[in-house]
Amino acid sequence: MLPLLSIDFRGLFPEGIVSFFTQNRRGVEVLLPLETEIAAAYGSKRLSDFCTGRYCLRSCTNILGFNGEIPIGERGMPILPPGIVGTVSHSKVLSGAVAASTNDFQSVGLDIESNGRINREMWHLLFNDNESEFLMTLSAEDQVLTATKYFSAKEAFYKMQYPISGMYLDFHDVEMLPDNGETMLLRLLSNAGPFKKGSKFELSSKVAGNEIVTFCALPK
Ligand SMILES: CC(C)(COP(=O)(O)OP(=O)(O)OC[C@H]1O[C@@H](n2cnc3c(N)ncnc32)[C@H](O)[C@@H]1OP(=O)(O)O)[C@@H](O)C(=O)NCCC(=O)NCCS
Repeated sequence: MLPLLSIDFRGLFPEGIVSFFTQNRRGVEVLLPLETEIAAAYGSKRLSDFCTGRYCLRSCTNILGFNGEIPIGERGMPILPPGIVGTVSHSKVLSGAVAASTNDFQSVGLDIESNGRINREMWHLLFNDNESEFLMTLSAEDQVLTATKYFSAKEAFYKMQYPISGMYLDFHDVEMLPDNGETMLLRLLSNAGPFKKGSKFELSSKVAGNEIVTFCALPK
């Protein structure tokens, strides 16, 4: 049994967001028939992620009045019924999901990463010169934490924007503005559907044990 994380989500999610996180892995018993078909060819890690993620997301949508099947759509996004938006993430030790009514939010994005996942050799793939220069100003410990937070922020933003734009965005299509607090600002460096180049988006993050949870939402 993993040591239980104590996660204080105060300030991470705005009003109207329903969230569910767990360190307990779930199995195929939580899947509904269509999801079982989707997962038929999955290997054990992917299957465990999928089952646990669907359990988390359905725990959220249940509160919003939906407990049906959640298939996988184009490029991996979860397909929810009209009226609900939701997002899933898994790290090795923590899985979670958030959902909301479209009366309150157009889209949401969540990402969980284990601190230290991003090493210096990966920076050029993920960060531009501005981001790397800012990271270089930080202490070694903060560099590792902030690089992981920036990576997580980009993935959370991607999951938020994809259902609206339908566009794949590379890590260099966005940049993080210099900051290493709990609130971060991301700038879009290319057009993505209705999102215009230069637009800024706020993301929030929390550190729980060695896990970093990052959230992004587009209000209605
Ligand atoms: C899709 C991606 C963001 C998933 O992140 P990850 O760290 O690999 O995995 P996570 O566990 O955090 O998230 C997986 C969940 O993301 C969701 N997801 C996958 N593709 C998605 C998409 N296109 N849109 C929205 N959500 C998506 C799914 O719910 C998935 O879980 P599930 O398959 O169990 O339903 C990542 O694999 C990827 O392709 N990244 C490249 C694009 C990117 O991040 N660009 C950054 C600049 S914007």
